[in-house]
Amino acid sequence: MWILGHRGASAAAPENTLAAFSLAMTQQATGIELDVYQVEDEIVIIHDRWLNRTTNGKGMVTSHPLSYLRSLDAGNGEVIPYLAEVFEILPADAVLNVEIKHLSNVDSWLEKIRQGLAQSGFPAENLIISSFNHRWIRQIKAAWPQVHIGALTATYPENGLGFAHDLDAFSLHMALDVVDEFYVKEARQAGLKVLVYTVDYPEDMLMLKAWGVDGIFTNVPDIARQVLSPGE
Ligand code: G3P
Ligand code: MG
Repeated sequence: MWILGHRGASAAAPENTLAAFSLAMTQQATGIELDVYQVEDEIVIIHDRWLNRTTNGKGMVTSHPLSYLRSLDAGNGEVIPYLAEVFEILPADAVLNVEIKHLSNVDSWLEKIRQGLAQSGFPAENLIISSFNHRWIRQIKAAWPQVHIGALTATYPENGLGFAHDLDAFSLHMALDVVDEFYVKEARQAGLKVLVYTVDYPEDMLMLKAWGVDGIFTNVPDIARQVLSPGE
């Protein structure tokens, strides 16, 4: 079962920082999930629209120049990272789920991603792109047909797997609150990987494993690694 550090190993290190991503890998995660905003010509990693919760800055992420964003403390002296920096530090066999929170231009965003992959050598097949905004995801898939798409939802979709088929998804990313065994089986039969967020309790990890779920997003990769078999 895949163990993906949600915003990195975010229970033990400041979320969405290089420290949290490195720690997740040290804790034997399979990979990580992170959240991104497009600002000027860069892709920056942060979860909230507002800087206030996770940094010493104030105001909206998109209303500041990059120079200001990079001057902030994102916790324990960490800076807000660029996505390209993550491509550089991740091992080539790690899984990387990039969840888009804000996009201003699909073409320049994709150009930046391709540049980062080419420079770092991180393999595109280990990258999964997801977003709650399925319009952006559709546009990305149209411009880059080989890319792995994660069909992300916080609700139990009315049309079953229809939205995942429409997005030509590689994986289904579903909230722990709404996922059930029937949906997991249906999705896996349809050839989708099923990844569930956010799973921090051992009882939930074991239940999802019994259901045949392919992976979890967790803030505590160390606990997940203890609970799930070492080789998985
Ligand atoms: O991508 C899965 C999960 O991260 C979605 O919710 O709010 O933690 O980004 P959120
Ligand atoms: Mg996320």
